[in-house]
Amino acid sequence: MIKHKIALIGFGTVGQGFIEILLEKNFFLKNQYGFEFDVVGISDIAYGTVYNPDGLDLSEILEDICIGRSFTQDSRSWQALDLIKYSNATVLCEMTYTNLKTGEPAISHCKAALNNGKHVVTCNKGPAALAYSELKTLADSKGLRFLIEGTVMSGTPLLNMADGPLSGCEIIAAQGILNGTTNYILTRMEAGLTYENALKEAQGLGYAEADPSGDVEGYDTRGKVTIIANVVMGTSLKLEEVACNGITGITHNDIEQASLEGCKWKLIGTIKKNGNTIIASVSPEKIPLSHPLAGVMGAMNAVTFTTDLLGDVSIMGPGAGRKETGFSILNDILRIK
Ligand SMILES: NC(=O)c1ccc[n+]([C@@H]2O[C@H](COP(=O)([O-])OP(=O)(O)OC[C@H]3O[C@@H](n4cnc5c(N)ncnc54)[C@H](OP(=O)(O)O)[C@@H]3O)[C@@H](O)[C@H]2O)c1
Repeated sequence: MIKHKIALIGFGTVGQGFIEILLEKNFFLKNQYGFEFDVVGISDIAYGTVYNPDGLDLSEILEDICIGRSFTQDSRSWQALDLIKYSNATVLCEMTYTNLKTGEPAISHCKAALNNGKHVVTCNKGPAALAYSELKTLADSKGLRFLIEGTVMSGTPLLNMADGPLSGCEIIAAQGILNGTTNYILTRMEAGLTYENALKEAQGLGYAEADPSGDVEGYDTRGKVTIIANVVMGTSLKLEEVACNGITGITHNDIEQASLEGCKWKLIGTIKKNGNTIIASVSPEKIPLSHPLAGVMGAMNAVTFTTDLLGDVSIMGPGAGRKETGFSILNDILRIK
């Protein structure tokens, strides 16, 4: 197996989780898969840019972060694009913040990496939801990979399941719970909390951001629905073509009434293919307890694919997390041969 030279853009929760995994599993990965790597560069707004063509000292990097100081060894006065252009990295991991309006700066990072002969692995929904087809075509034209497993359900292998074990099946519909924050809030409302208190609890646990609108208004789920439609079902759906309603209108009374009817409210992302027509939406739905998604509780995510040859196939797992999303980056790199 080739020795990967890895560069990271964005070194927050996921970037640090990924490096921790590499340090912890270094020997296992080499023995099991012959996986060898050097992390040659990292660029982050808060910590600066470091580059060493022979590989950085990762323990030192984590020590810098641990005591809250900028990177010390091998530091350069470079921005992210300099690291992409001038480094000897063969794989670029894009892990900056998600921007679902313009996709920037992540789309520019991905394009620059591909144009400079580097594979791209990302968990950032911006490039995947807004520019998948363009970036995949650019990667293909250069014999490179553009891999995005972590953009939907973090490390739970939804996209790679469609591309791997389900190869040969046509996926004609998908239905899922794709946002852990809203599912956590709805689960806690079933336990008796008001929407406001459930949201506060989710914020206290770090599930919801100070401005929770991206989650509770359904925009995050809409991004993931668009990614699934385009990556798994081969459409060219745009974000704005997905009808989108969040959970802010769901009251405690609605939850109680559903319970009396033997149902639960869930925020469901749906994609249905009918010939050449695609219908996609995000909406709270009252589903019966017998529905496969009714038992998905707390911050868990799940998706059911409806296929032509196997019928329904479901996958459930974490939709976020430091190690869970770091794993998606590792798993995608392991697919680069
Ligand atoms: N955390 C999860 O569980 C999870 C799950 C699935 C997908 N994702 C996606 O993965 C990506 C990373 O998530 P995260 O949780 O690691 O976010 P995070 O903790 O906010 O880290 C992102 C880092 O990128 C840095 N950054 C932003 N713009 C940059 C630029 N132009 N050049 C260099 N660095 C830049 C940020 O610096 P500043 O803070 O100084 O701006 C920050 O340190 C996001 O797109 C997120 O949506 C996360």
